[in-house]
Amino acid sequence: MRVRAEIRSFSHRGEGAGIVVGASSDLSGITVFVPGTVPGDLVEVQILEKKRNYARGKLLGVVREGPGRTREVCPVAGRCGGCAWQHLRYDVQLLWKQTILKESLHRIGKSPECEVKATVPSPKVLGYRNKVEVPLQVQRGKVVAGFYEPYSHRVVPSDECPLEHPLARELVSALFVQVRKRAYSIYDEKTGKGLVRHLVARIAPGTGERMGMLVATTARLPGALELAREVMESVHGVKSMILNVNREMTNVILGNQWKLLAGRWYIEDVMSVGSAGSVRFRIGPGSFYQVNTEQAQNLYEIALDACEISPTDVVYDVYSGIGTMTLFAAKKARFCVGVEEVETSVMEAKVNARLNRINNVAFVAGKAERMLPSVIARFGRPGVVLLDPPRAGLAEDVVPVIVRSRPRAIVYVSCNPSTLSRDVARFKEFGYEAEWAIPVDMFPMTPHVESVVKLKRKG
Ligand SMILES: C[S@@+](CC[C@H](N)C(=O)[O-])C[C@H]1O[C@@H](n2cnc3c(N)ncnc32)[C@H](O)[C@@H]1O
Repeated sequence: MRVRAEIRSFSHRGEGAGIVVGASSDLSGITVFVPGTVPGDLVEVQILEKKRNYARGKLLGVVREGPGRTREVCPVAGRCGGCAWQHLRYDVQLLWKQTILKESLHRIGKSPECEVKATVPSPKVLGYRNKVEVPLQVQRGKVVAGFYEPYSHRVVPSDECPLEHPLARELVSALFVQVRKRAYSIYDEKTGKGLVRHLVARIAPGTGERMGMLVATTARLPGALELAREVMESVHGVKSMILNVNREMTNVILGNQWKLLAGRWYIEDVMSVGSAGSVRFRIGPGSFYQVNTEQAQNLYEIALDACEISPTDVVYDVYSGIGTMTLFAAKKARFCVGVEEVETSVMEAKVNARLNRINNVAFVAGKAERMLPSVIARFGRPGVVLLDPPRAGLAEDVVPVIVRSRPRAIVYVSCNPSTLSRDVARFKEFGYEAEWAIPVDMFPMTPHVESVVKLKRKG
């Protein structure tokens, strides 16, 4: 069925959310979600799915353009599921991220008193991604690399993406040439057969070092050592070539077996964060590292300033990864403790502390929800707690444990406004109120909202 709709806002997935208009339509007045549209658009829509209270549709044409609409820079925009907001002007993206965070904190977070500041723009709106992960597929007998279509596992063939750092793309292209040259069989997710699944490149913008990864279903990929040597010789700055083994029939890209093919297990980067100065980091293949390094430095500066660390403070950095925020915080605090579940990341964090001669830190491996009580018993009451969990937010047990340790402030860094707001509401029940929040745009051209929230103990 074809209808006309007026787009008024965005869904949390970044699709335009509108109302079907026109008295002649049976669907008149119903909410419809249409990817590729912007608020203010009047659009023709093909209805794909009809539920009781809403519908989903496909954009057929724009009758009247909304004020934020702009031209996409990528030839596969709209077909690729990577960046849903290329058609939205950057200044308008920033305003919407502020709106999404505000609505979420007010409605789910039950914190209308929280001041939501303007979004901090990213220093780069294109070419910012330091990590590129490319799925491989066979289409009509030909091996293609690209990106998945929205909500699908069909690959849209593409040999570049405007969001990627060019150094990362150059390395992925070199890996793809090697895969074709060696005629490896390509993994088929329906049958589970085939050898190579994904190509991954990671770069350290501060040093120019690069890491290349092949994700395969076997640890004995024929010719892999020679492949790695050739790539290291031909692509400048490649310091690490790794094979990741993933035999699981899942959507998860990386498996949990690793093999060093050439070079070393890590790349090194340098980050600078305001008055805390510079820190050198070793980043291993399985560790989290913010994908927009330049903006991550701004994010960390905002989070650390929000902590208002004094030289007598003990600071906990919960979900600490390779110790990025922990080590910057340690430069201002008496002592810092990082808690992180991935053991190799904890090992890298400890190495990073030694590398930077930072001695007033400890790192504890394990799930936060399990480790926090013993961490508090061992290291004492924190003055401030920094939280930076994954998208799922905090496990239920984490909030009461932190509250019982009575930090004067909690600074929550989040990449998901919904789980952030759920946790803010929980903290409020225990007497911690969100004073202010600030979106920091880590992911231009996408609807993803990263933010920092400052919570303070009341009374
Ligand atoms: C968003 S990252 C933040 C890492 C670090 N703060 C940074 O900026 O680089 C979240 C981290 O939490 C870790 N993690 C996930 N679930 C966890 C849990 N239940 N307990 C402790 N750490 C966890 C992940 O391995 C990841 O390193």
